[in-house]
Amino acid sequence: MIKILTILGARPQFIKAGTISREIAKHKEIKEIILHTGQHYDSNMSDIFFEEMKIPKPDYFLGIGGKSHGAMTGQMIEKIEEVALKEKPDWILVYGDTNSTLAGAIVASKLNIKLAHIEAGLRSFNMNMPEEINRILTDRISNVLFCPTDTAIENLEKEGFENFNCKIIKSGDVMQDGAIFYKNLAVKPNNIELKNDFILCTIHRAENTDDENKLKNIFSALNEIACEKQIILPLHPRTKKIIENLNICVENLTIIEPVGYLEMVWLIDNCSLVMTDSGGLQKEAYFFAKPCLTLREETEWIELVEIGVNTLVGTEKDKILSEYNKIEIKKVDFSKNLYGKGNASNLIIKELLAYEDKGRK
Ligand code: UD1
Ligand code: UDP
Repeated sequence: MIKILTILGARPQFIKAGTISREIAKHKEIKEIILHTGQHYDSNMSDIFFEEMKIPKPDYFLGIGGKSHGAMTGQMIEKIEEVALKEKPDWILVYGDTNSTLAGAIVASKLNIKLAHIEAGLRSFNMNMPEEINRILTDRISNVLFCPTDTAIENLEKEGFENFNCKIIKSGDVMQDGAIFYKNLAVKPNNIELKNDFILCTIHRAENTDDENKLKNIFSALNEIACEKQIILPLHPRTKKIIENLNICVENLTIIEPVGYLEMVWLIDNCSLVMTDSGGLQKEAYFFAKPCLTLREETEWIELVEIGVNTLVGTEKDKILSEYNKIEIKKVDFSKNLYGKGNASNLIIKELLAYEDKGRK
């Protein structure tokens, strides 16, 4: 029996975990224990994903959310360690680049438990982003690094990872698996008046929300675009608090509460354009063949920019508006298969089992 302690905490991790947990459930020889740090805690940022995507209920819930990064990460380390000491897992499994990811990774390395990182090797090369620090530190102490793209593998090679005692595997992207699986289950959100043609927008990255100028510029551009095309914006609680405090005008936008994944998939599938600073949503736009304007200066998903389906528009109002006007006429090609074949979860679990087998021989 192989025991895996999966660490979850934030919305994108729940979505990724859905596909992996479904795969694990096919293997009687694996026992998964799910620990939810509580980094995200509102029901529409957390519970809804477990319910809709039928992710097993967490075995442990730590309730550590809404704190400063240091306090959050520190308290998570302390509590995850207690669970790991009690459960004695063979593996700790972490996803992505959040504070919950880093906390789980540190516990694994301190207790000498094997660490697997899903979504390894991604880099924005912006060390001011908390996510970039979380990724680099987690990758460096992982035993197995599951990379979604060739770019991710190249990033690790450039950092000298082939000299480290770790295994690097190109797995493809688990979000691609999810998009394929959940597409047929998509649900049109209730209680929103949707025009035929709308833009789907999300904004939550600290680099935008915590910079008053950037945030005001972004919303000013969005308000102008919304005069001609409806913009649906499921609003992250972080952004909601900040725009209320700064009294930022959102009068032309259709602001809604964060939605569950099945509604989100429907919105992506039915919009004409995505505007976002989210990492996951940039890829989902691609999976559903929608052009994307990314409200950031850089992206971890650079291959999307290289093939012209994603444009980095930054946070200057004029640039956002001029790129928006261009995209309407640009022909966008979505035919390349950049993120695997939708079998990443299957491959990841196979590789973990093979690693265990080899270790025992
Ligand atoms: C975190 C991740 C980010 C990821 C995002 C996904 C880090 C450093 N950042 O950012 O990489 O893209 O999740 O959504 O881990 N809040 C609520 N209710 C909730 C969750 C958050 O009100 O359910 C509010 C709290 O005031 C909290 C703030 O949002 O302090 C920010 O939450 P936090 O988990 O610190 O970071 P995110 O911005 O969500
Ligand atoms: N998402 C969702 N409901 C929302 C907003 C986002 O289900 O109201 C999904 C989104 O489609 C993506 C995931 O949450 O799959 C990633 O979210 P987020 O933007 O929070 O994080 P990031 O990918 O930037 O780390």
